[in-house]
Amino acid sequence: MPTHDILVLPGDGIGPEVMQAALAVLDAATENSDLELRLSFDLLHGAAWERYGAFCREETVAAALTADAVLAGAVGGPRWDNIRVPGGPEMQDGLMRLRKELRAYAGLRPARAWPGSHSRTPFRPGLAETADILVLREMCGGVMFALPRGQETRATGRYALDTAAYSEGEIRRIAEAGFRLARGRRGRMVSADKANVMESYRLWRAVVGEVAADYPDVRLTHMYADNCAYQMMRRPQDFDVVIGCNLIGDFLSDLAAVVSGSLGLLPSACLRGAPHGGPVPGIYEPVHGSAPDIAGKGIANPIGMILSIAMMLEHSLDAPDIARKIEAAVGQALADGVATPDLDGTASTSDMTAAVIERLGA
Ligand code: NAD
Ligand code: IPM
Ligand code: MN
Repeated sequence: MPTHDILVLPGDGIGPEVMQAALAVLDAATENSDLELRLSFDLLHGAAWERYGAFCREETVAAALTADAVLAGAVGGPRWDNIRVPGGPEMQDGLMRLRKELRAYAGLRPARAWPGSHSRTPFRPGLAETADILVLREMCGGVMFALPRGQETRATGRYALDTAAYSEGEIRRIAEAGFRLARGRRGRMVSADKANVMESYRLWRAVVGEVAADYPDVRLTHMYADNCAYQMMRRPQDFDVVIGCNLIGDFLSDLAAVVSGSLGLLPSACLRGAPHGGPVPGIYEPVHGSAPDIAGKGIANPIGMILSIAMMLEHSLDAPDIARKIEAAVGQALADGVATPDLDGTASTSDMTAAVIERLGA
């Protein structure tokens, strides 16, 4: 069994808290397996800024490029959110830089209902208990990265500019990832865009439509993103894969968290290629942020990070059995009513972690 190199970047706020919890689960889940994991640790974003004066150092990029997987807790916070440093958008945010440098363009953000969590959702019975949505977010392009961008003062006052732009190749590769993922699920894909009003989304819609010809077994529906958001909340159980650009995918993945009962439950993978049945390197991070409002209190829900580790085992380390074992343990803990405050419970981060570890053998 080869050794796998994993770069661990706990990050800021609750990032280190949920990372510590998830690494304990990884340790317990792989204890009797033949997986050999070599973990190395580094700082990212705010933590890196405080120590090195950069959100993501060259050394960190180099280590991430050769790792089999990168684990990121969460980054950001009011202390660093308004710092501007020279360079493009990737220099402003450590995580954005890593995604870009690693070309980790395929952002898988699954949101599902869990037994035991339904009562924590705002849905009435029958609407969301079997919801299982995979938001596939393009991670390396679009309005968050395209140039020109900037701020200036004009005669008319202050002016700010971002550019929404996608190349055909960028759209094609994320569309292909979406169709492949849909093929392995329930065979349906919604593509969310604003092709009614914006040129880049006209190209998005055209290219996704062209790629669809190679996947006749997948039923593709184009939706305007505003309506997609509305329909996702009206009838979440009808959605399977939902594909969107960097910005729309960001919004829709937080929105999809409503079906799970908490943003704290959502994992993600940013894969450096389309899933193809074999291992693909990637960055694994919960969908949530650094949650400054609860940081340091020991009450963050660690499940988003724990499930991100399960995604790493599945997609980068070729260990789907261990991934399933972790998911089953999480499901059992939630079904047994173990709940952190975001799920209206009183369990601490370490209570939840212990509950998952206890159920790994079940
Ligand atoms: P957030 O996701 O950090 O928090 C939103 C809300 O959800 C808060 O009420 C928070 O307490 C709650 N929450 C989030 N994760 C939770 C968890 N695991 N357990 C319990 N409750 C949880 O979003 P925000 O407050 O808008 O952003 C805070 C900072 O995080 C900002 O600097 C932002 O840029 C950054 N951010 C980082 C990432 C990332 O690292 N991937 C993602 C989103 C936001
Ligand atoms: C996310 C976050 C990030 C993003 C921020 C922190 C750069 O919201 O991972 O969803 O916009 O991608
Ligand atoms: Mn986000």
